[in-house]
Amino acid sequence: MKTVAIIGQKGGSGKSTVALHLAACAEQGGISTAILDMDPQGSAHRWFERREAPTPEVQREMDADALPKLQKAASSNGIGLLLIDTPGKAETTALAACEMADLILVPVRPTQFDLETLGTVKRTVRIAERADRAWVMLSQVPTNSRKVAVEGEEAIAGYGMPLVPVRFHSRADYAYAMTEGLTAPEYAPEGKASEEATALYRWLTNELRLNG
Ligand SMILES: Nc1ncnc2c1ncn2[C@@H]1O[C@H](COP(=O)(O)OP(=O)(O)OP(=O)(O)O)[C@@H](O)[C@H]1O
Ligand SMILES: [Mg+2]
Repeated sequence: MKTVAIIGQKGGSGKSTVALHLAACAEQGGISTAILDMDPQGSAHRWFERREAPTPEVQREMDADALPKLQKAASSNGIGLLLIDTPGKAETTALAACEMADLILVPVRPTQFDLETLGTVKRTVRIAERADRAWVMLSQVPTNSRKVAVEGEEAIAGYGMPLVPVRFHSRADYAYAMTEGLTAPEYAPEGKASEEATALYRWLTNELRLNG
């Protein structure tokens, strides 16, 4: 089993959206997947309640100390991919999730306020001794400005953190899909959001050598 932590300082950066898309793609690819929703707001869990399909299963868990036990249980239950969705501004939770992770994803919007939180994120992954497994990903990139994305990538490089070679642009299909308990590839299979989500999942399978 592989474990992926999705962390970030800023609220609304796209953590839950990324987690749910990866989880649904993995299930679709034949990998039994579970999500631990550690955010008291419970957005991922509410998505699961709206969803008709029984997978990927989302379980709420607020206690960071329970994570190692839950990771073991998931592994013995035949889960192939465990995703941990964390709240923003919660260092203890993010740290606990990072410590268990094979890979860490940090979605950020390409804005000054979001990018400047990467210093704190970098400290967290260093404390967890996972700096070499933490990837920053651009999220909600405007579709009408190349400059914004390029400058965002430069800022990320300035933090010395690797960049995921796939971006999520700001697209209505992501938001509509979430509202329906779906993901973009399920909501609008031919759309660009679907393409991005599939590409992100493909990248992840390569990085983790995941096979369905
Ligand atoms: N790429 C995108 N395009 C359009 N809307 C998006 C995109 N990503 C996320 N959103 C929307 O932005 C809002 C915040 O996204 P999301 O809940 O995934 O962020 P988060 O980092 O998990 O937030 P929180 O810190 O509150 O948990 C949601 O309403 C979501 O539907
Ligand atoms: Mg969230």
